[in-house]
Amino acid sequence: MFNYRQLGDDQLEYVTVASTDEISNGERRIFDVAGDLIAVFNVAGRYYAIADMCSHDDGPVAEGEVGGKEIECPRHGARFNLETGKALTLPAVVDIPAYPVRVVGDEIQIGIPMED
Ligand code: FES
Repeated sequence: MFNYRQLGDDQLEYVTVASTDEISNGERRIFDVAGDLIAVFNVAGRYYAIADMCSHDDGPVAEGEVGGKEIECPRHGARFNLETGKALTLPAVVDIPAYPVRVVGDEIQIGIPMED
């Protein structure tokens, strides 16, 4: 299961990665969160977070072109849903991690699944 948005808050640890004025509408930033590269997108005022690693061949998917809630991997063109991480087109067949994002005050926080 790669869509961590489906986890409850008791299974997540929220980490502050930026303030809201650091990721404007249409922008993205990539963060190293405990060794994992996670990209946060602001799409029309809504935030999405996905792992910056394509499931096809480990490409930097977060550098791809965004259209609506979809992103296209710059390496071979696979498309993913930004909200769920779902692989939408070949050559990717495996979803990528998608993380819940919340805003507390002016802090953007990503929900990271807790270790078992
Ligand atoms: S590495 Fe992303 S489509 Fe191939």
